Amino acid sequence: MIKISASMPASYRETSPDDLDQRIQRAKATLGERLLILGHHYQMDEVMKFADAAGDSFGLSRIAAERSDADLVVFCGVHFMAESADILTGPHQRVILPDLAAGCSMADMADIDQVEAAWSDLSQVVDTERVMPITYMNSTAAIKAFVGRHGGAVCTSSNARAVLEWAFANDEAGRPRSDKVLFFPDQHLGRNTALTMGYETSEMSLWDPAHRNGGLSEREMKESTFLLWKGHCSVHMRFTTEQIEEFRRTHENALVVVHPECSQEVVGAADASGSTDFIIRYVEATPPGSSIGIGTEVHLVKRLADTYPDRTIVCLDSEVCPCITMSRIDAPHLAWVLEEAVEGRIRNQITVEGETQAWAKVALERMLAIT
Ligand code: 13P
Ligand code: SF4
Repeated sequence: MIKISASMPASYRETSPDDLDQRIQRAKATLGERLLILGHHYQMDEVMKFADAAGDSFGLSRIAAERSDADLVVFCGVHFMAESADILTGPHQRVILPDLAAGCSMADMADIDQVEAAWSDLSQVVDTERVMPITYMNSTAAIKAFVGRHGGAVCTSSNARAVLEWAFANDEAGRPRSDKVLFFPDQHLGRNTALTMGYETSEMSLWDPAHRNGGLSEREMKESTFLLWKGHCSVHMRFTTEQIEEFRRTHENALVVVHPECSQEVVGAADASGSTDFIIRYVEATPPGSSIGIGTEVHLVKRLADTYPDRTIVCLDSEVCPCITMSRIDAPHLAWVLEEAVEGRIRNQITVEGETQAWAKVALERMLAIT
């Protein structure tokens, strides 16, 4: 197959939704078993209905690693997820992101130069052999590779606790693997997870990459158990404790579940928090008649409300908060990349190569081995 980069012809935008559906079905049928469409829970229904597997970022990375029979993996999600899929799949497999503009603003909050500079600053003050770098899946392949090279691991919102426990557990020689964790790019997932493990906020410091030494004193760098990168998700930062109070005031026996990318205060005010997959299982387990307020991306909340019409399921933010970049993957882009693949043209392939691929794979495989 030939790899060509080009943008989607305007005609796809002018095609009716029914026609697009038929064309996607036809292309899927033609590509058959060779094709695997993966859909993250935040994707729109117009795309999700064609996914062969739906999941959170952890579940999808596992599927990508296991399905070596599919030589074409179309990832309906965002860039870092497609990169991770490419790293975990074999050389005969091609990973396609239907729209290359589907990025993640949180992942953009840590770039590799900043991370290298932070490590260099840290090494002037502490023994970095005793610092474990842990990166959230929502990061570039270059950062995953950095983490792999320095003995660390990737984590997702569904296994962050297990990965952090591993970071402090004894190694084969009976010695704790590390004394300190540098966690990026999401301060909130890092803080919320450390709190569930029994750590105090006084044991954590915020590393601001805009400043030398992260804006910290030498004492803070030495004494903190967690150095949390100053990054966040703008979708999850919209949720507030006031919204939770309002939801509880207006609904009897209200239940609130939020994603751990929300602030410490919001997670503390909720009844439960966890990954997108956790949120789905939480809702599934509630009895009919329940009222559930959810703090996560609105497409998932809407899908849950449609799936369980016998429950009141609402997004805590009434202004509605889609992840704009996730929503870039739409039916026209899916139809385009599939029809092009039928013609033997691979569009929007995501590739991670060389040293970056090798070390990022080490960090991702450590995560898969831990959980
Ligand atoms: P999950 O780990 O729950 O899939 O979440 C990924 C994400 O991007 C949340 O904003
Ligand atoms: Fe990134 Fe937030 Fe969108 Fe998740 S919801 S992909 S963290 S911007």
